[in-house]
Amino acid sequence: MSMPTTSPTSLTITRPDDWHLHLRDGAALGAVLPYTARQFGRAIVMPNLKPPITTTAQALAYRERIVEALPEGADFEPLMTLYLTDLMEPDEIRRAREAGVVACKLYPAGATTNSDAGVTDVRKIHRVLEVMQREGVLLLVHGEVTDPAVDVFDREAVFIDRVMQPLRRDFPGLKVVFEHITTKEAAQYVAEAGPQTAATVTAHHLLYNRNAIFQGGLRPHYYCLPVLKREQHRAALVAAVASGSAKFFLGTDSAPHASVMKEASVCGAGCFTALSAMELYAEAFEAAGALDKLEGFASHHGPDFYGLPRHAGTVTLRRETWTLPDSVPFGDAQLKPLRGGETLAWRLQP
Ligand code: DOR
Ligand code: ZN
Repeated sequence: MSMPTTSPTSLTITRPDDWHLHLRDGAALGAVLPYTARQFGRAIVMPNLKPPITTTAQALAYRERIVEALPEGADFEPLMTLYLTDLMEPDEIRRAREAGVVACKLYPAGATTNSDAGVTDVRKIHRVLEVMQREGVLLLVHGEVTDPAVDVFDREAVFIDRVMQPLRRDFPGLKVVFEHITTKEAAQYVAEAGPQTAATVTAHHLLYNRNAIFQGGLRPHYYCLPVLKREQHRAALVAAVASGSAKFFLGTDSAPHASVMKEASVCGAGCFTALSAMELYAEAFEAAGALDKLEGFASHHGPDFYGLPRHAGTVTLRRETWTLPDSVPFGDAQLKPLRGGETLAWRLQP
């Protein structure tokens, strides 16, 4: 008699999307885009370039550069976003909507990489948020306070009380994505919030707790923002995605920084995971005994929340041991993928 198989050797799911991605620009864009275009059908492209993408014209020009950088024959659609500043005009939101921009990103000023021009006080963008609510433009939130008096590890939880709750009260119809959540507080907040609130979760926040940053010495490639948290928080994120709740979906936050910039006295925040994103998520879901929930998380919940169609095609992950390259070219520099040089148990089929 054959036993029911508890560890499948392959998994075929609807083609997935990445709802939170950093592609950069120029040579860096050309270096990382093929990895994402191979793994995903669409991606929400973050606007934190230097200078940031704050106008519709900039977003459309950036979109063109992305499309031009796509490998021959790639089937990939970049979904564009605008970077909110204190000076954003409501009219710009209307123009953006007409041009197909799907969302605006709220970076509290100074919260992370290239966020200096971000919003200093949400009250300053109330008129803009009203238009977004009316026009159906989503708000994507980097959910950390920047108050230096608040411990780095508490910034997300404090953000919920100080910013998220009032924002939800003032704009109940606005669709809000709490990006790259890292705490049990955020997972619980989103699970209990109304249907207009959702969250993205990265593979690295599902796989690692903050010990990874200090394993045998300081490990810059595990440093991202919001920073990895305690094990109880990682476990809460895993439970949230393993529950199958449609409020949680895939957003890699793959954020390339040249190795020389990571392995420096001041290390930029970001984990580069685009090369093996689906493999890392499969590993996390399998460890949770929730491989059957991967498809909803990676391929259904995101488009459903954004009001976009799910893909018709599929991708297949196979159980196959392979070694991630230690580093890959990144313009004139090198880029180290998270887990570079190590073996993975799953492999996305070409
Ligand atoms: O780790 C991060 N890297 N978090 C962010 O919020 C920004 C990103 C980047 O752009 O490098
Ligand atoms: Zn990000």
